[in-house]
Formats: sequence, structure tokens, C-alpha cells
Amino acid sequence: MLSYRHSFHAGNHADVLKHIVLMLIIESLQQKDKGFYYLDTHSGAGRYRLFSAEAEKTAEYVDGIGRLWGREDLPPEVARYVALIKKLNYGGKELRYYAGSPLLAANLLRPQDRALMMELHPSEFPLLRNNFKEFENVTVKIGDGFQQVKATLPPKERRGLVLIDPPYELKEDYDLVVKAIEEGYKRFATGVYAIWYPVVLRQQTKRIIKGLEASGIRKILQIELAVRPDSDQRGMTASGMIVVNPPWTLEQQMKSILPYLTTALVPQGTGSWSVNWITPE
Ligand SMILES: C[S@@+](CC[C@H](N)C(=O)[O-])C[C@H]1O[C@@H](n2cnc3c(N)ncnc32)[C@H](O)[C@@H]1O
Repeated sequence: MLSYRHSFHAGNHADVLKHIVLMLIIESLQQKDKGFYYLDTHSGAGRYRLFSAEAEKTAEYVDGIGRLWGREDLPPEVARYVALIKKLNYGGKELRYYAGSPLLAANLLRPQDRALMMELHPSEFPLLRNNFKEFENVTVKIGDGFQQVKATLPPKERRGLVLIDPPYELKEDYDLVVKAIEEGYKRFATGVYAIWYPVVLRQQTKRIIKGLEASGIRKILQIELAVRPDSDQRGMTASGMIVVNPPWTLEQQMKSILPYLTTALVPQGTGSWSVNWITPE
């Protein structure tokens, strides 16, 4: 049985990086009027109470969204992301709620865009369903998100974004994300695919990179933010996003905001960042 619950981690530094990249990709897809399809293969609950027992136990959000919340010197891209989270907090001064990827995306969607949010966990799914009652162009389903890559691509719009964000609780996830990209790409080569990954043991991350290099797929960008150097001790030292077919603006946007983000999120000075092509065009 799966035991991962995202509520312990919501709003941490990894969520900040993931959700800024997600927002920037959606903004770029919306440069065109034509609608697109968004598939969130691993949705979680969609909305998190930061004053819940789980969130308070780990307080990971304090060193994530908490470090950006009160700042007045945010770069425009980061300011737009914080504004989205503020909207979820009823514009209030206090940080009480955090939006997961499906809610963040759903708040950005236009009427011509549509989304499918998948969640496998029987306790998380009802929370997810509850949070999306009012979104007409969003479907939520219980089940295996990886399978929906096969089942729903290519989308009828011929434009789309797939976010693949597994818990990596099972070691197979490191291989399954690569398989999902290969299967998606076979059906829909022009789609944008974003994989989130943690760096716990660097070898495991390398497994994803090697798999993608072997796939022959071109145009794969890797974006990473570390809070401390790699280590063989327990715990996540860094996280990243791997984006297949990234919007052409993403590389420069991330290169311009990552120095700010790294300093803001890791004021103790142990952080670092990188943006590089796993395979170029
Ligand atoms: C890291 S969390 C997702 C966080 C979310 N994407 C966000 O950014 O807010 C991973 C979620 O995937 C769910 N999950 C695990 N295996 C799954 C699968 N095969 N298909 C769909 N959901 C799965 C877990 O229950 C968990 O809620």
C-alpha cells in the first residue's frame, strides 16, 4: 500500500521549483488562443492546509513558499507564482493554504483548455475530487496516472502538457517516468512533458538521465535547485524538473530567476542551481 502523503511536503523548496516551472510552461502555451490539454499523472490532494498536523509536523513550507511570502523584491515570474498562492489564501496576509500542481494549473486554465487530474491513493482522491467541483473543464479520476499517458495521447487539441510527479516511494518510479515519456512521445511527439525528480541518491537521478539519453528523444532541458551538496545520508538535497520540448523561453527565464530563488530559499549559502540540456535540438 502506498504511504506517501504530499501534505507533509506541500510548499517546500521542491514544490516552489516545480510549480514555477509548471506556471511558466502553461503561460507559454497560452501565448496562442488555441486550447490545450493538461494531464497531471500524480495529482495529490490539490490543496493543502499548512496548519494541518501533517504540515506542521515537518514545517517544510517554512523553507519553501514561506521564504518568498513576505518579500517585496520578487522577480516578475516569481511574483506571479506567489500571487497565485495568495489568491488561494483569499488574498490575505497570512499563509495558510498551499496549491498543489492540479489546483495551480486549474486556476490558470482558460475556457478553451481542459485537464485530467489522476490520483491513485484512496484517501487522497476524495480530497482531490472535492477541490475540483467547480472547475468545468477539469476531470478528476482515481487510477494509475502512468496509464493515462497511453490512454489519452495524442489529445484532440494537438497541443498539450503532461506533468509526471510520482512519489518515488517505489524504486520502479525512476524507470516508469522514462517509460512514460517514451510512450507519450511515440503518440504525441510535439507535446510538452515535465518530470519532477528528487535528488536523494544521485545515482537514482542519473538513472532517469541515462534512460532519457538512450531514448533518442531530442530537446530535453534539465533544471535543478540544490539546498545542499549531494550526500549519501538520508534526505533530499536537491530537486529538479526535466522538460521535453520546453517552450523556447523557459531556459532563459529559469537562468534569470534561479540565482534569486537559490539565495532566497537557501539563505545559509549552501544552495546551488543548474540549467542544462540533456539532449539539445
Ligand atoms: C508528489 S505527490 C504529487 C504532488 C502534486 N503533483 C503537486 O505538485 O502538488 C505524488 C502523488 O502521486 C500519487 N500516486 C502514487 N502512484 C500513483 C500512480 N501510479 N498514479 C497516480 N497517482 C499516484 C500519490 O498518492 C501522491 O498523492
